[in-house]
Amino acid sequence: MKLLHRVVACGAALLVATSLYAQKPYPTAAQLSPTPPMGWNSWNHFHGSVNEADVKAAAKAMATSGMEAAGYKYIVIDDTWQGQRDAQGFIHPNSKFPDMPGLIKYVHSLGLKFGIYSSPGPKTCAGYTGSYGHVRQDAETYAKWGVDYLKYDLCSYGGIIHKVAGNNIAKQRAMQEAAYEKMHKALVATGRPIVFSLCQYGTTSVWKWGASVGGNLWRTTGDIQDNYARMAHIGFTQAGLSRFAGPGHWNDPDMLEIGNGGMTPEEEMTHMSLWSILAAPLMAGNDLSKMSPETLSILTNREVIAVDQDRLGREGNRIWEQGPLQVWVKPLAGGAKAVGIFNTSRNPHVMTFHLSWIGFPADAHMRDLWKHENVKAKNGAYTVEIPWHGVVMLKVTR
Ligand code: GLA
Repeated sequence: MKLLHRVVACGAALLVATSLYAQKPYPTAAQLSPTPPMGWNSWNHFHGSVNEADVKAAAKAMATSGMEAAGYKYIVIDDTWQGQRDAQGFIHPNSKFPDMPGLIKYVHSLGLKFGIYSSPGPKTCAGYTGSYGHVRQDAETYAKWGVDYLKYDLCSYGGIIHKVAGNNIAKQRAMQEAAYEKMHKALVATGRPIVFSLCQYGTTSVWKWGASVGGNLWRTTGDIQDNYARMAHIGFTQAGLSRFAGPGHWNDPDMLEIGNGGMTPEEEMTHMSLWSILAAPLMAGNDLSKMSPETLSILTNREVIAVDQDRLGREGNRIWEQGPLQVWVKPLAGGAKAVGIFNTSRNPHVMTFHLSWIGFPADAHMRDLWKHENVKAKNGAYTVEIPWHGVVMLKVTR
């Protein structure tokens, strides 16, 4: 009997060893996206018109402009790349993307990673073919093509859910969870590490369940637009969500509009600063191949990016608000803190920030991350003018 036990135990051990050898374990969420993903997404600038040439130009520009060096690495094609399914049910790109595997190879050849877009519904938001009924097959196709990132957008599946769940939020949530988990499992089954980006506009408090269904990031809001009012509304209503973010799982207040023409440089610096304090994914949404030096310098401010990408992975929060002025703070590795002092009004404002508000001594070291210079407090108080719709962003160290 003892011998039999031993033989069985040995056999089991051998089986485990061979299967471990055969299949590399799928990376954990924290390994897949230890810091918020950085890259470019076609939607905000190109919308439905995006084609292969646009994506190639974006990838080339990312690799040569200094963006890649600053940390941007994902090139993501959003909606409208999909064509028809073949007789076996496999999805093919439409005529705007004649050679998807070739395009992905090109992106990889530049040292970048590639992302794609789908929906759990029969149709995407722009009315193209979704993954409904073909989840496993689509995941396999993406893996075969060499995809590294998937944005999975609820779109028409929302209608299906509504028919079943009505206004029952718990039921809606359960159905959304099931749909996202199904794709996550399909991605894992391919064995290819693919960052999983949930997009369902922040409904059913997705931050409470996004990580548990395999999401590495999840949209917390409806769509951004290229104007200060919408950007600021989204950004400044993120207070209170910080405890749901961390390495491997990030709140996503939507992609950047910097460089798309609808905001002043000060407003764009607010956008970049606020998103970095929120540890938000930094997905540029402009035409990278036609960037002004000013746009590039805002998108590649390394001191601000370092706040977003800080290895501690803590999202910041609002700590102070008075009239149009707000102070947001993000804890950084090693005990430093990033501080954003924002002015949401149409007039410049002078205000005094006290180091005691963040528990720092009067002689703490302060650096202005947009001016790239050290600044000094007087008796622990720093008085500074904040431009209209602008920001002063500091890194404070003991
Ligand atoms: C939704 C998403 C956007 C974009 C479009 C594409 O609106 O929220 O980010 O992906 O769909 O159709």
